[in-house]
Amino acid sequence: MIRTFVLSALSALALTAGGAMASESEGHVEDIAFSFEGPFGVWDKAQLQRGLQVYTEVCSACHGMKYVPLRDLTDLGYTDAEVRAYAAQFEIYDPELDDTRPRTPVDHFPESNLENAPDLSLMAKKRAGFHGPYGTGLNQLFKGIGGPEYIVSILTGYTGEEKEQAGTTFYENVNFPGGWIAMAQPLFGEDVEFADGSPNDLHNEAEDVAAFLMWAAEPKLMVRKYVGFMAVFFLTILAVLLYLTNKRIWRPIKHPNDA
Ligand code: HEC
Repeated sequence: MIRTFVLSALSALALTAGGAMASESEGHVEDIAFSFEGPFGVWDKAQLQRGLQVYTEVCSACHGMKYVPLRDLTDLGYTDAEVRAYAAQFEIYDPELDDTRPRTPVDHFPESNLENAPDLSLMAKKRAGFHGPYGTGLNQLFKGIGGPEYIVSILTGYTGEEKEQAGTTFYENVNFPGGWIAMAQPLFGEDVEFADGSPNDLHNEAEDVAAFLMWAAEPKLMVRKYVGFMAVFFLTILAVLLYLTNKRIWRPIKHPNDA
């Protein structure tokens, strides 16, 4: 009974792994070893800060992140004063004043400026780069569902071709479903200057902003992993204790001749 179970579990795992290999070669969303992936992954705060910079200097011209509270930026290692200064650069309409005022850390990031630019708050979790068996099971545990990878591949998938259709310009992007996207290529490399001197070529900028958007979509990822890990840990101890208790309770019945 147990053996059949173990065998079928093993073959299911083998299938998942095999499927992963198969779809890896045909999908164009490549896996990136982000620091936050895997059961013990953690945020790379320096990378998140660089991503915030790319977002602020480039993406926020069109995109908003209206579900992300500005005060959460303290998670990235900024002091309260720094977050206050960052927030103050965005205006918000305050109905009580009947006027605009600078944002404070309790406000959220602004909404999208451009009507057809989607809000990026949850984008890294809304899009799955890995499909089929590649995006499930153990692969998901170790590599995530591929949201940040999808964002990197969109940002690096432009060919430079464009076309006009019904008054809108579309840009060819080999990694966007359908091949044509209404977003002009936002990053070319060397778009921002990082204070820590990190490389600012196209790929590094794209990875940094994708990591930042993953944080924005799930700021409590590390807490969730920690709680899950502790739950499994304690359930394991509980299982061992229950097993030993069970043995002890039934011992007089199984071995009636023992003292
Ligand atoms: C000039 C305005 C503009 C800028 C700057 C811009 N975007 Fe966009 N973005 C758009 C528009 C418009 C769309 C909608 C495209 C579509 O649906 O065809 C879009 C769509 C997206 C999408 C969603 C793609 C999908 O699967 O639907 C992502 C992700 C994205 N942008 C990320 C970024 C990032 C990251 C940056 C900064 C590096 C950025 N954008 C800068 C205008 C912009």
